[in-house]
Amino acid sequence: MGGVGKTTLMKEIRKQVEETMLFDKVVFATVSQNSDLRGIQTQIAESLGMKIEEQNIAARTAKLSARLKQEKNILLMLDDLWTRLELSDVGIDLDKGQLQSDNHLKEIRCM
Ligand SMILES: Nc1ncnc2c1ncn2[C@@H]1O[C@H](COP(=O)(O)OP(=O)(O)OP(=O)(O)O)[C@@H](O)[C@H]1O
Ligand SMILES: [Mg+2]
Repeated sequence: MGGVGKTTLMKEIRKQVEETMLFDKVVFATVSQNSDLRGIQTQIAESLGMKIEEQNIAARTAKLSARLKQEKNILLMLDDLWTRLELSDVGIDLDKGQLQSDNHLKEIRCM
């Protein structure tokens, strides 16, 4: 649904959540119709204050996955999703038992 204020609302939520410090990290990524996995990974990495130098997609995914495991409490905000995105393809492994039991990730996905 175009231009009704979804992105604006997401950014306002991000601002307020960051102020409350409910989460250790708020990760915001704009997925968009034609943005590739590398672009999504770069945005997530930047939100976490890290740089991914690797070009190889498997290496990038592994690096991001390892980094995310260090965070205890993450809010992941994905804006402008057009199709299904497999989080594990990006490096976010929720169902492989790779996250620590006290590691919590909440997601907000927005079309
Ligand atoms: N509450 C609001 N009051 C007035 N203008 C608003 C409000 N929320 C958003 N806008 C304006 O409406 C326009 C579209 O907002 P936004 O980009 O957030 O929409 P969107 O739903 O994310 O659109 P898209 O589907 O294209 O991604 C922007 O110019 C924004 O500044
Ligand atoms: Mg938008």
